[in-house]
Amino acid sequence: MRRSSEQPVAVFDSGVGGLTVLHELLVSLPTEDYLYLGDTARFPYGDRTQEELQQFAIEITDHLLAEGAKLVVVACNAASSAALGTLERYLAENGHQIDVIGVVAPATQLAVAGSRTGRIGLLATPATVASGAYERAVRAADAHVHLESVPCPDLAPIIQGGFPFDGHVVDTVREYCAPLRAAEVDTVILGCTHYPLVAPMLQRTLGRGVTLVSSGTGVARSVERALAAHHLLNPRTDEGSYRFRCTADVASFKTLGTRFLQMPLDEVTHVELAPDVRKVAV
Ligand code: DGL
Repeated sequence: MRRSSEQPVAVFDSGVGGLTVLHELLVSLPTEDYLYLGDTARFPYGDRTQEELQQFAIEITDHLLAEGAKLVVVACNAASSAALGTLERYLAENGHQIDVIGVVAPATQLAVAGSRTGRIGLLATPATVASGAYERAVRAADAHVHLESVPCPDLAPIIQGGFPFDGHVVDTVREYCAPLRAAEVDTVILGCTHYPLVAPMLQRTLGRGVTLVSSGTGVARSVERALAAHHLLNPRTDEGSYRFRCTADVASFKTLGTRFLQMPLDEVTHVELAPDVRKVAV
């Protein structure tokens, strides 16, 4: 299928975390239309296997392509870490000439370029840490940079669950940050798109001297370059639209999403993804 500049940019995550990436896109590329999918029925992705994440990523991308996406942003670290390569191969093998942009490379590049001491921390879900994707990306960018990785099994579910600002959350954040303080890192990659939503709490725990890095701005730049390279930037001059799909309850996605995006989520529809997930060769 031929792509045209009027088609939407698609963005997906397991839940509302990818809205932190969508927000950067809405600011950096305001004339584009966006279609966001939150796979809330299968949240959290952070304790899924690499094979499950590869299957989910293909299934969601198929849906987004059927909805007319001209580019797909995997706004989820767990899915990007496990499935970006698989997704690129799958699309190429099926004749889709479409760019897929993940979140691991943009965050790593910013962190490695910004670190003065060469000691970087990573907070991420267990699936992302287990994949080793950030270790590989950091090593490729600079073999002499040390990466201290901390799996945070509870943080994304706390945020997706509505994020109560209570002592338990503060204790959880403090526990995850302790190894990074001990390792004396000067830069911390927020390796889950949910985490920028708790940046104030993380910054207080880690201290002013630590720079928090997330993928949003880098992803927006990559999307712009990819669209420009294929002459697919939307030429209109007024603001584009944005709409949402989720795989579980629409009302709670709308409530939570509005709170986190701090913009209205007018059009949210439920989508049932194909139950007959094909087996993917990896
Ligand atoms: N927001 C997702 C990420 O960036 C994962 C959260 C989850 O589903 O566990 O990894």
